[in-house]
Order: sequence, then structure tokens, then C-alpha cells
Amino acid sequence: MIGEREADDLTAMFREFAQMCEGGLPLYHRLAAATADDREVADRLLLAHPDQRQPMLLLAAVHDHLLAGEEDPLRQWYPSIVSRPRAVGSGDDDPWPYFRRLALDDPGVADRLRTRSTQTNEVGRCAPLLPALAGVATSAPGAPPGGVRPLGLVELGASAGLNLLLDRYGYRYVRSAGPAIEVVPGAPLVLECALRGPHLPPLPTGPLHLASRVGVDLHPVDLHHRDDARWLIACQWPDDHDRIDRARAAIALAHGDPPRVVAGDAVTEVGHLVDGVPDHALPVVFATWMLSYLSPDRQAELVAELGRIGTSRDLTFVYADHPPRLPGIDVPPRPDGKVDDRPTALVRVDWRDGERSDVRLADQHPHGTWMEWLGPAR
Ligand SMILES: C[S@@+](CC[C@H](N)C(=O)[O-])C[C@H]1O[C@@H](n2cnc3c(N)ncnc32)[C@H](O)[C@@H]1O
Repeated sequence: MIGEREADDLTAMFREFAQMCEGGLPLYHRLAAATADDREVADRLLLAHPDQRQPMLLLAAVHDHLLAGEEDPLRQWYPSIVSRPRAVGSGDDDPWPYFRRLALDDPGVADRLRTRSTQTNEVGRCAPLLPALAGVATSAPGAPPGGVRPLGLVELGASAGLNLLLDRYGYRYVRSAGPAIEVVPGAPLVLECALRGPHLPPLPTGPLHLASRVGVDLHPVDLHHRDDARWLIACQWPDDHDRIDRARAAIALAHGDPPRVVAGDAVTEVGHLVDGVPDHALPVVFATWMLSYLSPDRQAELVAELGRIGTSRDLTFVYADHPPRLPGIDVPPRPDGKVDDRPTALVRVDWRDGERSDVRLADQHPHGTWMEWLGPAR
């Protein structure tokens, strides 16, 4: 039996999602707004695990069905599938009746609702991460003058691990004045990031030396499996071409040699994973848009665990997340005292000889399309 309350919550979530899509995402705005008025469709989310009952799961289940190549008239409205999508309108131009039918009747869509969890991996976040790691490598104890110390990366909430491959991508940092700064020009995937504010980030002048890399995730995406790789795309907004193109290019680059991502809980596993970093390398644990998925108590537990590791081994923790969503973590404020409203904060925490220090490195767009560097130049 579905409680009235639960059904109301589902339609309310779709209404909120539709509002978020207003303006830039016409397809998902229409589909979410129509689902909010159609309890039978919204209730399809009850097939999903209670933790996964979010509008994005239903939208992704239908998107994935279409991406898998199923012939259905709904395809015509998806910019991620056809090169000249139909404009979303009313009457014959309305995608809703086709979406409704798939959501209610298609066994493949129902199966995805039962078994999948929403999953993304945003490689754009590597653009702010690169100078953060470059700064750690040059300032780490044991780095030769003018050189770098090798790093051992441990990513928490790594998803498919695409951000562990940040040294395979090229970067283009666009300044408001002066030419753009290119790092690894000519790379097959170039991530562009606009620089804001007066300070230049410490961009690497040579390759990062990565001695090891490993990730952990509750639900790792295995890029060896075509269906899993496609699901990553299905969880993106079909109207957002740039993001989808980036993800497709990164998946293609990773395909032959994906990074290792183990299944497990970040707080429980981080100690073993840091133990696996070779002695000559500095362990760098990083987490982008993952900490806010932990309860405040678990956030505090994670930082305490890193502190425990930091008493016996030098260690750096880099995280990017929305400060109001991190009540269990003491996020350092911006140096100019401006409030944390919309941006993502990029923070570095070092433990050196057991002493902890925190620095707010930058504020950035959640997907890394811009950053304002606030931290040290190295
Ligand atoms: C929004 S995604 C971000 C993925 C990736 N870090 C990125 O920036 O593209 C959050 C990820 O954290 C994972 N996650 C959430 N809680 C976790 C936990 N306790 N331990 C490990 N992974 C977790 C989710 O499965 C998901 O893959």
C-alpha cells in the first residue's frame, strides 16, 4: 500500500525538479512538470530502492532505454540521441504521451527502476583539481627544489573513476584578459575552465607524477560493461550537449585502461586504500561532490579517520563540495569573508608530521566550468 504522504512527496519532488529545469532544459522541464500532475507515473518510482526515489532515476531509466537503441517516437525529442531534435511544444510536438507510455508499460524501464541508482561522473571537475594537485606535488615534503613529489591518489565516491585519469586530459584555462593557458595541448579531450578573480592557480608546467591511483564507491560503474558506461550518460540531462560530449569522450579514453574502483564505503575503506600507496609517494585522498552524500556524523567520522592516518603518515585531503551541505566538516571560510551561497568550495587539508592545516583553495562551478583561485600560488 502506498501512503498518501509518500505519493504526495513524489509528485512534489517532480514539481521541484521541473522548476529547476525551467529556462535551460525544455525537455526535462516538460516531462517533470507533467509527471508532477500524474500520480500514476510518479508512483513508478516506488519500484526503486527507497534511497533512490528521485525524479532523475525515472528520467534516466527512460533515457537509457532510448540510448540503448530502442525504436520509439520519443527519441526525436532527445538532443543526446538525434542530431536535429524536435522542439518541445504542445499537441503533436509534445513528448509527454510517449514518455508516459514507456514509464508505465515498458518492462526494461521498470527493470532499470528496480536495479539502478542514479550515477554521474563529471570530468569537468578535473580542471580545478589539477592546480590543487599540482600545488600539493610541488610543496610536498621530499619534493626536490623546482620539482615534484610523486602522488598516490585515492578518490572517495569515484563513480567510474574518470577523475582519477586527470593526467590523460588537456586543459584550457580562459582568462578575461590575455591568452588562454593551455596544459597538455592537443590532448584528445580538452576541458575548458574560465578563470575568475585576480589570482592565477598554480598550473603544472610538466606532467603530474602519479605513483598509484585507486577509487572507492558504493556503486562503482564498471566501464568494461557497455550497459554501465551507457547508464552514466543516461543520468545526464539530454539537453546539456557539452556535458554529454565530455562524458562520452572521457569514457572512450578510459575504455581500454580504466582505473581501479573498488566497491565499498569510503569511510570504512579509506585506511586500507591509503596503506596501498607506495612509500615514496604522498597519499592524496580526494572527494568531489561526494561528502554531501554522507550524514553530518559520517562526514566528521571521515575527517577523524584521515586525522588518525595523518598521525602516522603525511597525507593530503582535497575536497570540492557545497559548504552548507557539509555541517560535519569545518570548511575554512573565503579569505575575503564573502558568504558561501551558491559556489562549490575547493579545500585542501594537509597533515604534516601530525599537524593539520586547512586552506580554501578556490571557489568553482559545481562542474568545474569556472574557478576563482583563492589559495597559495604553489
Ligand atoms: C555525485 S556523485 C560524484 C562522483 C564523482 N566524485 C564526480 O565528481 O564525478 C557521488 C558519488 O559518491 C558515491 N558515494 C556516496 N556515498 C558514498 C560512500 N559512503 N562511500 C563511497 N561512495 C559513496 C556515489 O555512489 C556516487 O558515485
